[in-house]
Parts: sequence; C-alpha cells; structure tokens
Amino acid sequence: MGSTGWHGRIRRLRAGEAAGAVQCVFDGMSAGSRYQRFHTGMPRLTASQRAELATVDGDRRAVLVAERRHDGGWTADGLGRLMAFGDGRAEIALEVVDAAQGRGIGRRLLGELVVAAHASGHRRLVAAVLTTNTRVLDWLRREFPGCTVDVDGPASVVDIVLRVPTILDPAALDPAA
Ligand SMILES: CC(C)(COP(=O)(O)OP(=O)(O)OC[C@H]1O[C@@H](n2cnc3c(N)ncnc32)[C@H](O)[C@@H]1OP(=O)(O)O)[C@@H](O)C(=O)NCCC(=O)NCCS
Repeated sequence: MGSTGWHGRIRRLRAGEAAGAVQCVFDGMSAGSRYQRFHTGMPRLTASQRAELATVDGDRRAVLVAERRHDGGWTADGLGRLMAFGDGRAEIALEVVDAAQGRGIGRRLLGELVVAAHASGHRRLVAAVLTTNTRVLDWLRREFPGCTVDVDGPASVVDIVLRVPTILDPAALDPAA
C-alpha cells in the first residue's frame, strides 16, 4: 500500500503554465520510470513532446499537478493526465518522480482524476499500462473492481466504468440520455 507522508497539494494546471511542471517531473523520473510511463526509451523531452504533454484544453485535456512547497515556491512531484476520446471515454496517465514514489501521490492523483473525469462528463476511463508493469496493473484492478484488462501487444488496456449512485447520475435524470 502506498504510505502517506507527502505533504502537498493537487491542483489543475491552467493553459500556459503546464510546460514547467511537465519538464520538472520528467527530469525527476529515472529511465525505468520513463519507460513505464511512455512505453519507449525517453532520454529527453523534445520541445514538441513537452508542448503536447502540456496542452490543456478545457474538459478535453486536463493536467493535474501534485506539488509541494520548496524554496518559497512550489515544485511538481507528479502529474495526472486526462485526455478525452470524445465518446464518453477518456485516457488517464500518471507519473511521479522517483524520489517521491510510494508515498501516496499516485493514489491521490488517481482519485482527483476520477473526480475531474466525472465532472467533465466522462463515464469510462482507459489506461494503457505496460503488461510487464504488473504492480500498477494489480493496483488498478484493486482500485476498480470490475475493470477489464485487455492485452494489446506490449501494453495492457485497462477499461474502467465509472460508477456513481444512480440518484447522482445525470444520465439517469435526463430523459433524453
Ligand atoms: C505508478 C505511479 C504513478 C504511482 O505513483 P506513486 O505515488 O508511486 O503511488 P502510490 O504511493 O500512491 O501507490 C499507489 C500504487 O502505485 C504503485 N507504486 C508505488 N510505488 C511504485 C514504484 N516505485 N514502482 C512501481 N509502482 C509503484 C503501487 O501499485 C501502489 O499500490 P500498492 O502500494 O497498493 O501496491 C508511479 O510509481 C510512477 O510514476 N511510475 C512510473 C510511471 C508509471 O508506471 N505510470 C503508470 C502507467 S500510466
């Protein structure tokens, strides 16, 4: 279980401010963590990769940052990303700097991603996780009982249906839904 002990905040990044956090978290990830996150060797981020990862676009693309106080300002320890497919599904991705892994940041980011996804009207989440990344796959299976996991080459695609109490589900209240 991820332990606690990390003191920081999670917030949604605004357009134009995400590039610094993207680079900061990338710089704090080992080659192994980068491989697990991006499924390929990533010795550095190109400007276009950084711009792509930092794109924030309303409900379609959101980036959450886990940040803590440092030197009178804030420093980013992790990111959670939500990318809408446009059909009610959204892909999620998580990355935490190696020095802060295992302290509960990923779990907090995941929880906030679920809240953000639901608020944006996404009803299914999809995560592409390397099949060899069994610790994360097992974690997602535990967090989302009933999710399906389909092996697709080197990646496994985790498909999560977000469940909310029927009385809170707008779809259940909308006769047109
Ligand atoms: C996966 C990751 C985001 C989890 O963030 P974290 O802050 O370390 O996680 P937490 O402390 O909240 O623990 C949650 C789960 O993350 C996993 N985890 C934690 N530390 C980990 C580590 N050092 N290596 C791999 N998985 C780890 C575990 O499954 C853990 O659950 P468990 O303790 O019940 O087994 C982070 O380890 C990471 O960035 N890994 C590399 C990139 C990656 O694998 N991304 C996921 C695919 S998108």
